[in-house]
Amino acid sequence: MNIKLLKDLDYRNKKVYLRVDYNVVENSKVIDEFRIEQSLPTIKELLAKNCSLILASHNGRPEGKVEKSLSLRPVAQVLANLLKRKVSFIDDCVGQEVSAEAEALKPGEIMLLENLRFHEAEEKNNSLFAKSMARLAEVYVDDAFANAHRAHASMVGVPKYLPHAAGLLMQKEFETLTGLLKSPRRPFLAVVGGAKISTKIEVLKSLIGKADIIFIGGAMANTFLQAQGFDVEKSLTEPDLIDTAREIIELSKNKKVDLILPTDLVVAKAVKPGANKRTVEVGKLEKGDIALDIGKETMRSLIPIIKKAKTIFWNGTLGYAELSDYALASKDLAYLMALRKGKAETVIGGGDTTAFVEKLGMHNRYSFVSTGGGASLELLSGKQLPALEALRT
Ligand code: ADP
Ligand code: 3PG
Ligand code: MG
Repeated sequence: MNIKLLKDLDYRNKKVYLRVDYNVVENSKVIDEFRIEQSLPTIKELLAKNCSLILASHNGRPEGKVEKSLSLRPVAQVLANLLKRKVSFIDDCVGQEVSAEAEALKPGEIMLLENLRFHEAEEKNNSLFAKSMARLAEVYVDDAFANAHRAHASMVGVPKYLPHAAGLLMQKEFETLTGLLKSPRRPFLAVVGGAKISTKIEVLKSLIGKADIIFIGGAMANTFLQAQGFDVEKSLTEPDLIDTAREIIELSKNKKVDLILPTDLVVAKAVKPGANKRTVEVGKLEKGDIALDIGKETMRSLIPIIKKAKTIFWNGTLGYAELSDYALASKDLAYLMALRKGKAETVIGGGDTTAFVEKLGMHNRYSFVSTGGGASLELLSGKQLPALEALRT
């Protein structure tokens, strides 16, 4: 599949409706600048071509009601600081005042609209709502990759009424993530962790057959270990999915993919800071033990594999990384992957995993860190994303 790119669109000197994903405000504060930073290349390119910009985004899940704490107003200041330019903020995203402000916007000027989800018409993909937004501008550019799995008015409605294209971030996300499945440099190592197999089955299935080696960590590994007959005591598992785990193990055998599970685990009797933690071999958990991280022996065995890999994709923390006691394996992986930058394609995707490497201040040390959570997983699962469909050539 191909999508329309900025280079295919005549946007010079135009008024642009730029859909971004600035879903980063909580309690009236920007809690994460990564998505804002990642939107800068497109904004700068459009400004360089004398465009005027109308930026639009959703934030949170206000379900059609105005919730002040979810206003996008704080983003305007952060964006203005990053761009060293004025960014005006408009209190709504449709209506007379918005139209008048959009009309008056001059080349080089930027305005940010209020949270699209303050109108229920956004999530309902209401076509009148989409039309009134489309009337604000001459062309539509979509850089909101993290929201590409949502068939909402600003994502799939507006591009029906305006010449449109993907922005530079959307393009990079699309090309990198689909490139992983299409033509990865080999060996290709995929590391998949996180809490639940149920949220990752499709991703795992699409990686089997594409990756050469798949390492499973996080709580997900517990269900796989159960499938192999090990007792995981009080660890988080999904007993209903033991058969699915068996199927995945079988499937990887058939496809000659090396599926690796942990050989040692860090355990404790409670999920809280300061609980006594121990490292135990798989199969040797004591009564009441909860597996909360991957052990050192396992991580050590991954080193030569990581060193040889030409493509490394990571999704899902390897342990209960919200507590620093159980973030060690994930930290090790973050560092080991960073050491491969320039030698291998290193790609990180998923909401919590991206937030984790960002918190470490390491997000610039990989080939690519996706801004997408659900969107990147759906794309890697081989699903069609509505916003990408709307940008199809
Ligand atoms: P992403 O959002 O990047 O796709 P996930 O949501 O799948 O990642 O994985 C991150 C979550 O997995 C974190 O909340 C983390 O606490 C949880 N997790 C990882 N390992 C364990 C474990 N051993 N026990 C409980 N939770 C775990
Ligand atoms: C995200 O952060 O994953 C996107 O902005 C989508 O948000 P949503 O899950 O509230 O639709
Ligand atoms: Mg998550």
